[in-house]
Amino acid sequence: MHKLPLHQVESGMKLAQDVILDDGRILLLKGFIIKPRYLQKLEAYKIPFVFVEEERIAIEEISEERVYSDAFNNIKTVMESIRIDQNVNIDTLKQTVNEMVHHILNDDMVFMALTGIRDIDNYTFLHCVDVCIYSVVTAKALHMRDEEIQELAMAAILHDIGKCKVPLDILNKPGKLTNDEFDVMKRHTLSGMDIVNQLPGLSKKIAKIVCQHHEKWDGSGYPVGLKNYDIDLGARIVSIADVYDALTANRVYRKRYMPHEAAEYLMAQNESQFDPNIMKTFIDSIAVYPQDSVVLLNTGEIARVLPSRGVLSMRPRVSVITRRNGPPVFEPYEIDLRKNPTVFVVDIIS
Ligand SMILES: [Fe+2]
Repeated sequence: MHKLPLHQVESGMKLAQDVILDDGRILLLKGFIIKPRYLQKLEAYKIPFVFVEEERIAIEEISEERVYSDAFNNIKTVMESIRIDQNVNIDTLKQTVNEMVHHILNDDMVFMALTGIRDIDNYTFLHCVDVCIYSVVTAKALHMRDEEIQELAMAAILHDIGKCKVPLDILNKPGKLTNDEFDVMKRHTLSGMDIVNQLPGLSKKIAKIVCQHHEKWDGSGYPVGLKNYDIDLGARIVSIADVYDALTANRVYRKRYMPHEAAEYLMAQNESQFDPNIMKTFIDSIAVYPQDSVVLLNTGEIARVLPSRGVLSMRPRVSVITRRNGPPVFEPYEIDLRKNPTVFVVDIIS
């Protein structure tokens, strides 16, 4: 076993001890093989060192991880350039987004385990990528045409581009916004449309979806208050993906919802905020708890999620691998959360 400072830790190394945060939360478990996204996580939480085993596992570069991080880096560059009024080239972002669409059209679960990386500093950009993934998965389930899906994917990743024009003190304000500040914030829909219209190579349709992503099914949204089918189909999809992903993130002003709670929230907003058919397709298509995520249960048991999707994935079957306190688990055992209503997920470890 070695104690290694973070800058010497590499993909393929095996953790010899749990990585635990100062507040007692478990970040990664003993036995996990380090992947690029775990490195990002360790950096985000400023972990100074970890203990690793002698043995190393050769892991191939997983192509979806590369595409995901390309998408993240590209949208970050675009948004940062627009904030400082620099010229941007949208072509690289377009290529990566098309690559992402291509992967999802082949296998809609391919990026599911990568969504929900919750790095507070990079939240804005990770959120854009996740909204794009959820929107494409839903569009595929709705049997939209490939070209329409590509257009929707660009709109989804750019949906909050107008926030680059919102002053940072309002954008990052930890507390509740005043009415005036909220009015400024709401303008991100219209400025987003203007920005998209000025970027070469993006269609009017993309600008329209960006503009309408806060419209609500019952007409109570903004900027116009459009209702039902007057809202573009793409905007009806993006708005669901946006709210779901935003709820599952920790923000400065509130603790995050667990994914099953976010899904329950969406279902409770049926017919008011969201198009009921698309909401149903969304819930049926995503994996609320993706396969192989590691979760902490209210019983103190730590478990790996077994494959499922849709409503079933809100209360999946899990395989218990260890306990936080108490006796060790020698043989993993299964719990079906649907058959055990008193057991539920209280935290996501990875
Ligand atoms: Fe927005």
